[in-house]
Amino acid sequence: MDILKNSHTKIFLDSGNPLETKQILDYGVHLDGQTTNPSLVAKSPLFQKRAQKGSVKIDELFNMYKETVLKISEYLPNGSISIEVYAGVDSEADDLVSQAHMLKRWLPNPHIKLPITAAGLEAAHTLVQEGINVNMTLCFSQEQAMAVHFATIGAKPGQVYVSPFIGRLDDIGEQGSDLIKNIMQHYRNVDSHVQVLAASIRSVEHIHSMIDLSVDIMTIPFKIFDLLQTDEIKDTVSQDLSEIKFEKIDYNKVSWRNFNINHELTDVGLAKFKKDWDDLIG
Ligand code: E4P
Repeated sequence: MDILKNSHTKIFLDSGNPLETKQILDYGVHLDGQTTNPSLVAKSPLFQKRAQKGSVKIDELFNMYKETVLKISEYLPNGSISIEVYAGVDSEADDLVSQAHMLKRWLPNPHIKLPITAAGLEAAHTLVQEGINVNMTLCFSQEQAMAVHFATIGAKPGQVYVSPFIGRLDDIGEQGSDLIKNIMQHYRNVDSHVQVLAASIRSVEHIHSMIDLSVDIMTIPFKIFDLLQTDEIKDTVSQDLSEIKFEKIDYNKVSWRNFNINHELTDVGLAKFKKDWDDLIG
């Protein structure tokens, strides 16, 4: 795990299972925080055990999610913990804002994960003005990241994260780490308050490239920590991925609402998060 120790990048665990948090800490790794999402909590032992007994009501799912993040926060009392809303492509901003208000009450200072959709950005715009932290998730493009920046102007440092998904871009043949590099360049250009949280990490190779870029934060799944623990570095066969070029973006648009925030992977990812919870509801 030595590569993590000397880096400027904050290290989060990407997991919905508090037992994994404990195990990583037992390895002697310092964790600065943890990200969760509906799919991750749905496959945790708590949710799976309950699901075996039959369908679950939505309120009970939220209660189990709360129990999960409270346990995580016992292990990481000073860590940043991200809790995600239950949302679909057609969720409206008002609904996301009221969910965020509920989720915010679970912990002293969580980051509320919202999708980068029109509704998610409207919700973030409102929430940051109320002093609530947000983590804008399912980011797959430079314009989406710029929309997050402009929609949350006025936020305090550390209040806003953007989570670009590296692995899912690799999956469609694009060099996901290029997106991180390009967003970081845009953010330097506008002296952004938004911190970049590299998500969807699938390999030790990803970890090395994020450390080389000095990304603000990266969130690492349990099994990749395990690979680091065994010093296994030949975990991936390098794929032939196409470069994501730096895009010229007009930073002077009249409104952040004018950025093109459409990306198919955002919609697909959102639908999958929702399905993983809906499958438990039955
Ligand atoms: C974390 O915030 C993300 O939800 C997570 O890293 C997604 O990872 P995946 O693409 O492997 O599902």
